Amino acid sequence: MKQYRIAVIVGSLRKESFNRQLANAIIRLAPSDFAFDFVEIGNLPLYNQDDDAGPSKPVLEFKEKIKSSNGLLFVTPEYNRSIPGVLKNALDQGSRPYGQNSWTGLPAGVIGISIGAIGTALAQQHLRNVLTFLDVPTLQQPEIFLQAKEGFFDAEGNIGSGSKDFLQNWMTKYADWVRKHQK
Ligand SMILES: Cc1cc2nc3c(=O)[nH]c(=O)nc-3n(C[C@H](O)[C@H](O)[C@H](O)COP(=O)(O)O)c2cc1C
Repeated sequence: MKQYRIAVIVGSLRKESFNRQLANAIIRLAPSDFAFDFVEIGNLPLYNQDDDAGPSKPVLEFKEKIKSSNGLLFVTPEYNRSIPGVLKNALDQGSRPYGQNSWTGLPAGVIGISIGAIGTALAQQHLRNVLTFLDVPTLQQPEIFLQAKEGFFDAEGNIGSGSKDFLQNWMTKYADWVRKHQK
């Protein structure tokens, strides 16, 4: 049976990040033929077009991890009604040098959790905009806008009972999307 390797990209560097907790919890709902690797973005240098002639080791390693995956899972907070700069930097790094876009064709899912009531809706919309240009087929529905509230995660770090069915349904649709978009 084919195994699908998913690169997980968390848009927050915070140790106690709700989004990292969400990523850890939702991947437990995945089918058994899916494996998830967290690809860290905090060690990437700020993108500078001058470096295209000789990208640094962390950038080359990052691009390789993305390219060799079968799909992408973005889990991001919203910062000032958009995506965090650290995530945009990672997207830019992966997109260059010109003609060497590591993201192209990889099926993606976008989710996020925030302390605010709009649950990262605007960040996700901005991210989708960038992913469209980067040629990343991104699952459209169902959308996942989550607010971090008491009981959202249970004591073991799983999705709490109030949201579990909803997120399980999303994961099933996401897995189908990834399977359907293999090159
Ligand atoms: C610089 C900054 C900007 C923020 N802007 C928003 C925002 O636009 N919308 C929102 O819902 N929450 C916003 N927040 C609050 C985040 O939802 C909250 O800090 C959340 O815990 C961040 O995700 P994390 O726990 O994964 O780090 C902002 C937080 C920071 C630090």
